[in-house]
Amino acid sequence: MTPLHEVIIKQNTRINPIWIMRQAGRYLPEFREVRKQNPNFINLCLNENLSSEITLQPLKRFNLDAAIIFSDILMLPYGLNQKVEFEKGFGPKLGEINLEEMSKLDEVDFVEKVYPVYKAIKKVSTNSIIKDKNMIGFVGAPWTLLVYIINQQSPKNKLRSDFFKDEFLINRILLILEKFLKIHIKNQIENGANVIQIFDSWAGLLEEKDLPNYIYSPTLNLVNYVKSLNTPVICFPREIKNYKEFCDIVKPDAVSIDYNIDPKKILNDIKIPIQGGLDPKILLTDNETIKKEAIKYLDIFKDHPYIFNLGHGVLPETKPNMFEYLVNTVKNY
Ligand code: CP3
Repeated sequence: MTPLHEVIIKQNTRINPIWIMRQAGRYLPEFREVRKQNPNFINLCLNENLSSEITLQPLKRFNLDAAIIFSDILMLPYGLNQKVEFEKGFGPKLGEINLEEMSKLDEVDFVEKVYPVYKAIKKVSTNSIIKDKNMIGFVGAPWTLLVYIINQQSPKNKLRSDFFKDEFLINRILLILEKFLKIHIKNQIENGANVIQIFDSWAGLLEEKDLPNYIYSPTLNLVNYVKSLNTPVICFPREIKNYKEFCDIVKPDAVSIDYNIDPKKILNDIKIPIQGGLDPKILLTDNETIKKEAIKYLDIFKDHPYIFNLGHGVLPETKPNMFEYLVNTVKNY
């Protein structure tokens, strides 16, 4: 059985597989090299030769247990014909919403637009480097995608004051997202993804009273869909006000935690397999600190099914040798 399946399905507590969010990215010189030649990020994601090569870059260097496809959660609004651009130093910029056009879109149009993502997954999952490892597919959670679609850029730390003004628009977009997220998940699995992670990066922007509507209900729907395809699903509701309630209601197969939540509280409250937690900034310190902090998480979860990861993506300024030191520390635990 693959390492992530051992932990998630068999609840094996004796192994601690490791993969890292954004493991394929700007902290790697070989990524920056490819990126320099390909200034358009979306086109890079749509080039299956390059995106599959980038996906494998970290696995060629480090003893990681899983690959995550090099793509982006914003390929979904792109597939829905919303304009998506990435501006250097600014982040994502999305175009106006054309609800009528979005509502008319069918499965064939969508799949055609994002097809190279599935081809890249197929290429990676059939590569010998991935043998006995996991191939992680992913989507953005409906809430986080709604945030980008309506806000048209990263919300930084708060939503636009008129964000919830148009309830009709919000409900229509959530329905459209549900339909196409399922299509996107199905195609990733059919092409070789054997774990799905749902990234809800902006879960922390919502007050507890809004969680059922915008997070629990739409995410539960997706989680049940992934389960129906016999594939384990990990949820990452970053900075959510109530991890326990989220897990009790949504029941993902595993939950990924951020670095602001106390891992001891999580161990106490949550019975399902856990992933992540370590602050990515720790990788900017020194070997001694990295070892101490990594072992803190490994010790806390030593009798609990646990997948090692960070509490958010690896920072671009991370040195590859620090990343390597972390992987080896976990592997030698
Ligand atoms: O290695 C991996 O984890 C797989 C690839 C991956 C990317 N984005 C590549 C990427 C994954 C899983 C994502 C998910 C994603 N994308 C999320 C959820 C996780 C999170 O970080 O909270 C979100 C919110 C996005 C949207 C997004 N994409 C933003 C806000 C940005 C710009 C900010 C940044 O980090 O530069 C991106 C661009 C992006 N996606 C990059 C990468 C490697 C950087 C591209 C570059 O400039 O080279």
